[in-house]
Amino acid sequence: MGFGERSGVTFVPPSYASAKRRGKQSTHVYDASVIPDHVRSFGVGRTYFIQTYGCQMNEHDTEVMQGLFEAMGYEATDDRAQADVIVFNTCAIREHAEDKVFGEIGHMRQLKRERPDVVLIVCGCMAQEEGVVQRLLTKHPHVDLIFGTHNIHRLPALLEEAYFAKEMVVEVWSKEGDIIEHMPIRRNDAHKAWVNIMYGCDKFCTYCIVPYTRGKERSRLPEDIVEEVRTLARQGVQEVTLLGQNVNAYGKDLVDHPSSFAELLRMLSFIGIPRIRFTTSHPKDFDDALIAVLARRGNLVEHIHLPVQSGSDDILKRMSRKYTRGQYLDLVAAIRRAIPDVVLTTDIIVGFPGETEEQFQDTLSLVRAVGFDSAFTFAYSPREGTPAASMEDHVPEQIKKDRLTRLNAVMTELSKKSNDQLLGSIVEVFVEGKSKIEGMLSGRTRTNKLVHFQAPEHCIGRMMHVRITEPMTWFLKGEIVHECA
Ligand code: 5AD
Ligand code: SF4
Repeated sequence: MGFGERSGVTFVPPSYASAKRRGKQSTHVYDASVIPDHVRSFGVGRTYFIQTYGCQMNEHDTEVMQGLFEAMGYEATDDRAQADVIVFNTCAIREHAEDKVFGEIGHMRQLKRERPDVVLIVCGCMAQEEGVVQRLLTKHPHVDLIFGTHNIHRLPALLEEAYFAKEMVVEVWSKEGDIIEHMPIRRNDAHKAWVNIMYGCDKFCTYCIVPYTRGKERSRLPEDIVEEVRTLARQGVQEVTLLGQNVNAYGKDLVDHPSSFAELLRMLSFIGIPRIRFTTSHPKDFDDALIAVLARRGNLVEHIHLPVQSGSDDILKRMSRKYTRGQYLDLVAAIRRAIPDVVLTTDIIVGFPGETEEQFQDTLSLVRAVGFDSAFTFAYSPREGTPAASMEDHVPEQIKKDRLTRLNAVMTELSKKSNDQLLGSIVEVFVEGKSKIEGMLSGRTRTNKLVHFQAPEHCIGRMMHVRITEPMTWFLKGEIVHECA
């Protein structure tokens, strides 16, 4: 059966053609009372379980879904096998992530046989892909409901429909709708919070599926963001991470009152939150005004995640990254001049179509030239519908793997070198919780390095000063300088 032939239940499948279109309309913000009255007590006596894959944006979407479920009376459970509603909030960034999800959905077939009343939901970025929805329809008919990244607020209404429908309910909006403020939310951490400042991405890097799955760049209004961060500060949150696929583009789409990321950060820096982070920034839009604001420090931490992707001009051009190696290095130099102790981390893809050994060496030399503290490194994974997927000269898997291993070896060396420099120094640590190392607590430095140390449990959620005694490759060990109050 092809798309569009069903009737009786909601059946709106994704379309890349419309996902690609960028409208000119301005962001419209409205308050939504999204849950119909009769659905408000729907979940009483029932439980939900959400399995989240992928990036912080998905983690944050999960927190909104938790808020919606709990507004409907559902309770969270950690026991997937017993849950009344099971949600897979999926990631589409690489094939490997998708394979994992399909594996899990396959396992659910048996559970649905034993407990047919369980509602199985697939949402998130994979749901925005044409091919994925086709595959779910034909191979996984035990899925009850599919919705995408643009209509999370429709969860209560769609869930109600799924309970009564005999067929799979599919509602995926290919074009993003309005930004919706004041959604219910249940955050996972009392001390740290994600705050979305914008949605979507207009960069269309040739390897990336995100502009299709997350839609056009839309910024939240500065006053809504400031209000949310102020509320978090009042609740005692110690660290806020501002989220966006490309935070540097913040505000450009606000037609009536264009704003900038630098200006937003400046406003947020006056709020009494001890630490403000952001992710992810694109080197192209990282301007002097932003560097100047970050150089004021205070609650703006000296850590910048600045994805470079490749060190070769030719590859950067074919990735459509819109900067050269030289421009990236100049940007790093400007940042270092303004913030000498800044910690830089990055994302790198190896084995992009046509990447030669020499071009890969350019990436290795750039990594050394910058001296990144750490990096997320990936083997290129073709994403159907993106320009790079139909480029010629795909690099064999074995070579990609080999380059990844060699890149990771360089990163290991750089990370250890950077951590070694901290031996004996005193760092400010935000204590996050119990460490994986027995009897210890762990936390993060302003530069996001993981530190393990001995301290009483009541210090969780506090800032402490820790002397670094044992730098390791991926974490630090230390001892507290004085007890927390
Ligand atoms: N293959 C491999 N890595 C990818 N990324 C994005 N798309 C792909 C792809 N098709 C990486 C980029 C990006 C990070 C979030 O994921 O490095 O910065
Ligand atoms: Fe993907 Fe590029 Fe947008 Fe990042 S900036 S989400 S890599 S298209």
